[in-house]
Amino acid sequence: MMKIIHLSDPHIHTNELFGINSVERFKCALEHIVLNHRDADMFAITGDITDIGDEDSYNLFKKIIKEFNLPLNLEPKLIPGNHDNRENFKKTLNHVPTDSNGFIQYYDDYKNNRFIFIDTLEHGTHIGHYTLKRQEWLIDLLNNTDDNKEIYIFMHHNPLALVRDESDGIGLKHKKEFKEILISKKNIKHIFFGHQHITSSGSYLGISFSSPRSTWSPLIPNFSSEYRLGLANTDPNYNVAILNKNGIVIHTEDFLKTEVNWFK
Ligand SMILES: [Fe+2]
Ligand SMILES: [Fe+2]
Repeated sequence: MMKIIHLSDPHIHTNELFGINSVERFKCALEHIVLNHRDADMFAITGDITDIGDEDSYNLFKKIIKEFNLPLNLEPKLIPGNHDNRENFKKTLNHVPTDSNGFIQYYDDYKNNRFIFIDTLEHGTHIGHYTLKRQEWLIDLLNNTDDNKEIYIFMHHNPLALVRDESDGIGLKHKKEFKEILISKKNIKHIFFGHQHITSSGSYLGISFSSPRSTWSPLIPNFSSEYRLGLANTDPNYNVAILNKNGIVIHTEDFLKTEVNWFK
């Protein structure tokens, strides 16, 4: 069994954002993780690490992580989202690997699993991009991954529309190209993403997927045919994925609710 903590969209900022303190909420999530999931095998944060991509916010993020003095197994794996700035990210979080073109893409092997972290940030837009050079990196990596390895992909943007294509205003632009890559490899087991700040799960091309809400500001799903975002002050969360030899289970942790009554 393997336990993975999947947190997304902390939107760290030096000030309050729309009446919510993203730093306080992120700290609450970390406290909850340390208290309940210290035994996790991996901790991933799928982008929108900061809200405006400024150096101060990355330094603040780093400071928070340092203060928590997380054990090695909980040192977060990081990728950027549309609210991040790649240069400031790399300058301040310089331990995070990059590919030969400077994109924040890398992989990590654990037992028989390969975890691939990809970069869908394109500066100047909230829409996700997966341009040719990034695609080539992923295709090459997949071609060099044994067929008996189980592959898990972490990305910021949703690779499919969560309701209708016409209302997916800020999802991944290169859906068609990304789909081709996904169907080229049989052993991709799950896709973890964030970005929409809503809990979602399902199956795409036979590959299961999941997204947690933001730890900062959760949104609600848009079932209309037009692009729109809405919030209803629902709880923020993070996800806990349990991988075992027969499949994967995704739990959601509403970390602001900390009092548990275990039935006697
Ligand atoms: Fe976000
Ligand atoms: Fe985002």
